[in-house]
Amino acid sequence: MEWGMANRLARTIKSDGHCFYLAVDHGYFQGPTHCLENPGRTAEPLLKYVDAVFMPRGSVRFSLTPNMETPLILRVSGGNSMIGDDLSNEEVSVSTREIIRLNAAAVGISVYVGSKYEHQTIMALSKLVDECSDYGIPVMAVTAVGREEEKKSARYLALASRVCAEQGAAVVKTYYCEDFEKVVEGCPVPVVIAGGPRTENDLEVIEFVYDGMQKGAIGVNLGRNIWQNECPEGMARALQMVIHEKATPKEAFEVFEEMKRNKK
Ligand code: 5RP
Repeated sequence: MEWGMANRLARTIKSDGHCFYLAVDHGYFQGPTHCLENPGRTAEPLLKYVDAVFMPRGSVRFSLTPNMETPLILRVSGGNSMIGDDLSNEEVSVSTREIIRLNAAAVGISVYVGSKYEHQTIMALSKLVDECSDYGIPVMAVTAVGREEEKKSARYLALASRVCAEQGAAVVKTYYCEDFEKVVEGCPVPVVIAGGPRTENDLEVIEFVYDGMQKGAIGVNLGRNIWQNECPEGMARALQMVIHEKATPKEAFEVFEEMKRNKK
């Protein structure tokens, strides 16, 4: 691997081979999502627990300090919204010059396999990989399902993840599911676990991250289940323990509970 690419990857995937990415990109299609009215204010206290923050360029510019040490994974796809016709109608919305100007350590793009805009989004990934490879910038592909929650099966996610890897993604972000090991086994590049809507209870988040990592994921790219939690710092610290410190869900949950108690 070329030095620049290896160096950028090493900024967001730590020496233990694991990574903790904080997803704060929702505004690009959801508008001012609950708790992300000011994304920088939400992210700032969590940055010390994570290895990178995943954001679109608007949020970066209007809400993050350029002095931050946490690397940026820039969300570079868009063109859709919650109230538009079809969530899968995304394209690359940021130029390569802008990616370099914002000093991104990596970029992220959604790919909607099996959707109306499958071809467009797969080709967008492929072209982005070509462009970014010239500058040693890794591309993270997000296997997006839009509103089609039923797509979150191992069969679908394995197919979507493999398609993304074959187009040159350096990392694939996909959902945790039953038989998750089949998704990881079929994907020749590292897999990070996406979040999704809030879980019913806090332990569930810690448990699915733990289980996903036992089954081969290298880390997570999670949003709402952290920053919509009543104790975001506690959840971030608990997940950091699972991802980087070999903590069991029970050990991590105890720390979360203690931080939640101390916050009150
Ligand atoms: C949206 C995304 C989000 O980054 C991803 O879904 C993670 O956020 P959350 O954990 O809140 O689902 O890629 O397309």
